[in-house]
Amino acid sequence: ANAFPVYLNKHKYQTFFAGKYLNQYGKKEAGDVGHVPPGWDQWFALVGNSQYYNYTLSANGKEEKHGGQTQMLLSPRVASTVLVYFSIQTNRSLRFLDDRSPQHPFFLMLCPPAPHSPWTAAPQYQKEFVDVKAPRDGSFDKPGKDKHWLLRQPVNPMPNSSITYLDNAYRKRWQTLLSVDDMVEMLVKKLESIKELNNTYIFYTSDNGYHTGQFSLPIDKRQLYEFDIRIPLMVRGPGIKPNQTLQVTAMLHIDLAPTILDISGINVSSVNVDGQSFLSQMAPSLRNGTTRPFFLVEYSGEGNPTTDPACPRLGPGLSQCFPDCVCEDAYNNTYACVRTLNSKHNLQYCEFADTESFVEVYNLTSDPHQLENILKKVDPSVLQVMNQRLIKLQSCVGDSCRDVK
Ligand SMILES: *[C@@H]1O[C@H](CO)[C@@H](O)[C@H](O)[C@H]1NC(C)=O
Ligand SMILES: *[C@@H]1O[C@H](CO)[C@@H](O)[C@H](O)[C@H]1NC(C)=O
Ligand SMILES: *[C@@H]1O[C@H](CO)[C@@H](O)[C@H](O)[C@H]1NC(C)=O
Ligand SMILES: *[C@@H]1O[C@H](CO)[C@@H](O)[C@H](O)[C@H]1NC(C)=O
Ligand SMILES: *[C@@H]1O[C@H](CO)[C@@H](O)[C@H](O)[C@H]1NC(C)=O
Ligand SMILES: *[C@@H]1O[C@H](CO)[C@@H](O)[C@H](O)[C@H]1NC(C)=O
Ligand SMILES: *[C@@H]1O[C@H](CO)[C@@H](O)[C@H](O)[C@H]1NC(C)=O
Ligand SMILES: *[C@@H]1O[C@H](CO)[C@@H](O)[C@H](O)[C@H]1NC(C)=O
Ligand SMILES: *[C@@H]1O[C@H](CO)[C@@H](O)[C@H](O)[C@H]1NC(C)=O
Repeated sequence: ANAFPVYLNKHKYQTFFAGKYLNQYGKKEAGDVGHVPPGWDQWFALVGNSQYYNYTLSANGKEEKHGGQTQMLLSPRVASTVLVYFSIQTNRSLRFLDDRSPQHPFFLMLCPPAPHSPWTAAPQYQKEFVDVKAPRDGSFDKPGKDKHWLLRQPVNPMPNSSITYLDNAYRKRWQTLLSVDDMVEMLVKKLESIKELNNTYIFYTSDNGYHTGQFSLPIDKRQLYEFDIRIPLMVRGPGIKPNQTLQVTAMLHIDLAPTILDISGINVSSVNVDGQSFLSQMAPSLRNGTTRPFFLVEYSGEGNPTTDPACPRLGPGLSQCFPDCVCEDAYNNTYACVRTLNSKHNLQYCEFADTESFVEVYNLTSDPHQLENILKKVDPSVLQVMNQRLIKLQSCVGDSCRDVK
């Protein structure tokens, strides 16, 4: 009831959602496809986790099946439900733009599953990037011997089968993103044709980073390192200079909602959110604001109560054990970190909830690939300050999170 589209909707925004929502969305236990979350005028959400073919949608609360051979909506020669999928959400959003009331602003959120697994690229893109391989830079296939328990498990160097697997995943992810490019192009052209492009903010982002081979972990997203916690974020819109890159600035997922509310003219201080608007950083001519010097990174590890189906020879408590029985998650892969990110310091301090109460510390100025855990080298007073900040950041709520010193 307090999600940001509710506030936008109350402020006369016309709202539209299409694509993946939450992994359990549309399931019986989660209220079935009839459940349309508050705040959305138009709602086309995928039932369950990422799927490119043969999927079910909730179309404004009504079940809608897509993707079997009989349900092709494009020319039967284009045997691509991917294309249909993107067409459906894109066409609907294009129609939404045509049908919108020009007196009221609009908000569209499009969430294609790409590039999430199962990476089923559209047929016309399945031959793209044949020579592309995952980058071999940074911590690729480096041992993680001074790191937490899970990072000490992988075989190093990786077997060739893992390398083949991760290169293939990397390439397929790129292929699926070509359909996202098509979708973005259609929308931008539409906004241009209805003369709203120069009056619209577009955010292009993702919900997690990804690793392919770093520290000999084949593929996943659940680690505390830069490769997993950094995401692409591109924004265009009024007041934002073209091609500017903000270098030393921490923008977090929890900041997206307050930023969007700020753009719409809603007083963010009157809304109870932990994040802060980053409009002032993107468009200083429109807003004053301060940057955030510290922030919290946290994750609660997941494991299987028995064995991981991908590797039955291993015991309980683990998950994502593929390929080659390398596990990428566990119950005790549970951590909280403070990142210090300003012009003077670029540090990370992490505590694990495991039997070793493991601690990792990185100086990203001298070690951008986090190859060396400097816990035993760093001045203990620095550790103490970081630990105190961590405690504050973990317990703060709303405004108080923006004042952690
Ligand atoms: C979708 O369903 C059809 C019909 O059952 C099947 O032939 C096709 O292989 C499925 N596609 C995918 C990608 O699973
Ligand atoms: C999407 O729009 C295009 C162009 O207007 C049209 O040719 C196509 O049939 C539409 N697709 C769907 C799935 O409605
Ligand atoms: C692994 O791949 C490398 C490079 O392609 C090759 O030189 C090596 O022989 C392969 N090892 C095995 C065990 O297949
Ligand atoms: C957008 O462009 C149109 C004409 O090209 C102009 O009239 C309008 O003022 C511009 N809007 C903004 C917000 O720059
Ligand atoms: C932004 O960068 C791209 C790629 O370098 C370039 O093609 C484009 O002209 C630049 N745009 C502006 C407005 O500077
Ligand atoms: C925004 O809301 C806060 C808290 O309700 C209030 O103190 C402040 O005066 C408001 N600011 C404006 C510009 O209305
Ligand atoms: C920022 O703050 C200064 C000083 O208070 C003020 O003069 C200026 O108008 C403000 N700018 C914006 C965009 O709010
Ligand atoms: C983490 O969990 C695994 C699986 O339960 C266990 O084998 C391992 O000893 C644990 N390690 C730590 C440091 O807690
Ligand atoms: C981090 O590395 C930089 C560059 O080597 C150094 O100046 C700085 O003192 C280091 N910070 C800490 C806390 O060790």
